[in-house]
Amino acid sequence: MTTFVSVLYIIAFALFIYGLMGLTGPRTAVRGNWIAAVGMAIAVIATLLLPGMGNWWLIALGVGIGTVVGVPAARKVKMTAMPQMVALFNGVGGGAVALIAWVEFRDTAGYAHEPLYVAIASLFAAIVGSVSFWGSNIAFGKLQELISGRPITVGKLQQPLNVVLLAAAVACAVAIASGANSEWLIIGVLVASALFGLMVVLPIGGADMPVVISLLNALTGLSAAAMGVALNNTALIVAGMIVGASGSILTNLMAKAMNRSIPAIVAGGFGGGATAGGPKVVEERPVRSTSAADAAIQMAYASKVVVVPGYGMAVAQAQHAVREMADLLEAKGIEVSYAIHPVAGRMPGHMNVLLAEADVPYESLKEMDESNSQFPQTDVALVIGANDVTNPAAQSDPNSPIYGMPILHVNASRSVIVLKRSMGSGFAGIENELFFDPKTSMLFGDAKTSVSDIVEELKAL
Ligand code: TAP
Repeated sequence: MTTFVSVLYIIAFALFIYGLMGLTGPRTAVRGNWIAAVGMAIAVIATLLLPGMGNWWLIALGVGIGTVVGVPAARKVKMTAMPQMVALFNGVGGGAVALIAWVEFRDTAGYAHEPLYVAIASLFAAIVGSVSFWGSNIAFGKLQELISGRPITVGKLQQPLNVVLLAAAVACAVAIASGANSEWLIIGVLVASALFGLMVVLPIGGADMPVVISLLNALTGLSAAAMGVALNNTALIVAGMIVGASGSILTNLMAKAMNRSIPAIVAGGFGGGATAGGPKVVEERPVRSTSAADAAIQMAYASKVVVVPGYGMAVAQAQHAVREMADLLEAKGIEVSYAIHPVAGRMPGHMNVLLAEADVPYESLKEMDESNSQFPQTDVALVIGANDVTNPAAQSDPNSPIYGMPILHVNASRSVIVLKRSMGSGFAGIENELFFDPKTSMLFGDAKTSVSDIVEELKAL
């Protein structure tokens, strides 16, 4: 039976990796996800075939509860709420690992007759899994606005407190690994790590939360892999390492795209106000506003239009109207492309997913560097619900919280039309000088309504 299980595991690993390859492009992503899900189903079934499995009713109950909670939640979640859902699901994985470590401790009478590496791997999994569970719950709460997105700290005592909590967790773990067999010690490991997880994530501002979620995701993968070592389960090791490695790469890419270092993010403090519904920066200065009719005429006489989508396009669900508008412009012989900033929206690949859903040809999506080289030859840059990713302050104002973040240089175009509802700020909660640029005209309103109005005007031309 174990050989058969090993064969099933190998099939599952092949499917994980093949599925992951599918996730490299929006066209193949859904299929890739299905392939990896089939791989995971095979890995679960194979694990249930291992000798020593029992408690079938309990297993069925667990699968039942997971299905009843998980499937409707995943089907109903709005695309813009995806990061917090990922936080929640990821946290549950870390929590499961921590609980398994506790069960292992009890089953083996405090690892009494186990090799030292089993105790070390299991205790590492308990610490990291617990940190990940509690940290992810705080991340979920902040993004869901159940708790303030502003940094919550205990002041100067924050760092010393964190060190004490981590040291307490490690001390309890060392005592267990050295042979002390008291259930209070493993409870100490779990509680101290839980408090450490809470204390590390609470001071981090809402703006950095998606990066933190990705980091915690990587930690969950690592904890699962460590538990796999302790349980001698290859499926857990491979799946955990895949999550750990891909989560680390994603964390790095996101931090880089926001020009934030991981230590700076963990030190906390940036951009809580905007996500927590804090005061929006609105400045009383004249701006040039335009109408859908004028915007349509301006684009109809252009030879090159670049669409710059942002979070507001996702909120308005304007992507289908945008596609229709682009079709009409292209029918008039106008070149249309899309400038995609790596952190536009609220999750990695957010704009790519939305535009792929509206069947925008993948070839029309241009990455930031390519787009920036195209703006000087662009007649109209149409900014749809994007704000921070176009903010020149990121390059010009060293005091700006987004200073250093690479941006889309839309103001290098001959003209700019910005579609948004008001002069309200974006995620970072700051003013955008682009809106006051003499080249810029503002088309105020919900992005979907505005684009649909432009479509009607284009049809009438
Ligand atoms: P934001 O800077 O957040 O700006 C979005 C704009 O959309 C807002 O100014 C808002 O203005 C407008 N808007 C909202 N609903 C709208 C609607 N229905 N119709 C029209 N406009 C609407 O977006 P961005 O430029 O995409 O930048 C993303 C930000 O999120 C960056 O600061 C980035 O660092 C941060 N972030 C991104 C990620 C990832 S991975 N993507 C992760 C963490 C943080 P009005 O209220 O005036 O309409």
